[in-house]
Amino acid sequence: MAQGPVVHVVGARPNFVKAAPVIRALADRGIGQTIVHTGQHYDSRLSEVFFEDLDIPAPDRNLGVGSGTHAAQTAALLVALEQAFGELRPALVVAYGDVNSTLAAALVAAKQGIPIAHVEAGLRSFDRSMPEEVNRVVTDVLADLLFTTSPEARDNLLREGVTEGGIHFVGNPMIDTLMTHRSRFDAGWAKAHIGIEAPYAVATLHRPANVDDPATAGRIVRALLEVSGSLPIVIPLHPRGRAVLEAAGLAGAERVTLIDPLGYVAFLSLVSGATLVMTDSGGIQEETTILGIPCLTVRPNTERPITISHGTNRLVEPEALPGAARAIVDGSATFPTDRPPLWDGRAGERIAGVLSGWLSSPR
Ligand code: UD1
Repeated sequence: MAQGPVVHVVGARPNFVKAAPVIRALADRGIGQTIVHTGQHYDSRLSEVFFEDLDIPAPDRNLGVGSGTHAAQTAALLVALEQAFGELRPALVVAYGDVNSTLAAALVAAKQGIPIAHVEAGLRSFDRSMPEEVNRVVTDVLADLLFTTSPEARDNLLREGVTEGGIHFVGNPMIDTLMTHRSRFDAGWAKAHIGIEAPYAVATLHRPANVDDPATAGRIVRALLEVSGSLPIVIPLHPRGRAVLEAAGLAGAERVTLIDPLGYVAFLSLVSGATLVMTDSGGIQEETTILGIPCLTVRPNTERPITISHGTNRLVEPEALPGAARAIVDGSATFPTDRPPLWDGRAGERIAGVLSGWLSSPR
């Protein structure tokens, strides 16, 4: 992509899904852009496959930062982004979501006096033990333009002292991507690729709070094994936590199929054909809401409460999973039927409209 004054910083799987519609909408307006991939996710199954599936232009730079402890990874991100911004001299840095690359982009841009736009601002789990919550709070305090996906995000930001004029409620770019590619989702994917026929459940687990501690992982695995008694489960396993989950009893379980991480279209195809999803992901809570697939989120809280008030999501303790899954299978569970406002596939256009006005106004 021809380099330009708007520099997108992306680094991890969910970033790519959110950035795709914004990059496309800015390109439609003829605004010059540069894509910087930090290299936080380097595995092709967590990175390249998303660029291909979502038709995102190849990154102009890959900083190759890779994995590490939070301190080591964030430090490497800061050093690499400082050098990249020094060379690229962005008019604006756009950062997405809540991963370590997002936090680092905001911190480096702020120190270099570069304005920051944060896409998916204002989400709060109010749980500072989650690394993502720390990243959200710090990024938002530094951002100049804050693009929100749901109405309560504005209240969260105002409570933290963010200036009202910087907040723009634009809808959800992750749902733009879902709507753009929905016709490619094949609900028969599981049958064609792994020989599992519906009804089946899908599970994904990768949060440190769920997979780092063997005792907690064990509680979740016991619950999944019980669910699998009534519904076979397919689990695309994120590399993080694979060993702990397998050791806790997932490896070799008869009605649990462990597979490698999937690309965007394959994963949403798998979800489209599922009876229910059990997850600790943020984005999947949103995607299932629009697909109308019941979602049981194995976490004590969510930064996306709108998926509960307007969607198919429900928070469950591990021990409550089997009962909650049974209620979905027997049809006794009910979910709200109205969907979140502005989750209509046009968030990228709205963001591009605001950015275009901002870039052409005198400062
Ligand atoms: C990161 C995000 C998380 C997001 C998730 C999506 C942070 C703090 N967390 O978590 O919010 O939901 O991405 O996937 O930024 N690894 C690989 N290959 C890779 C990348 C990572 O094998 O390409 C393994 C490594 O063992 C690594 C571990 O996964 O140490 C964790 O990777 P990291 O980028 O630190 O965080 P995620 O768990 O992927």
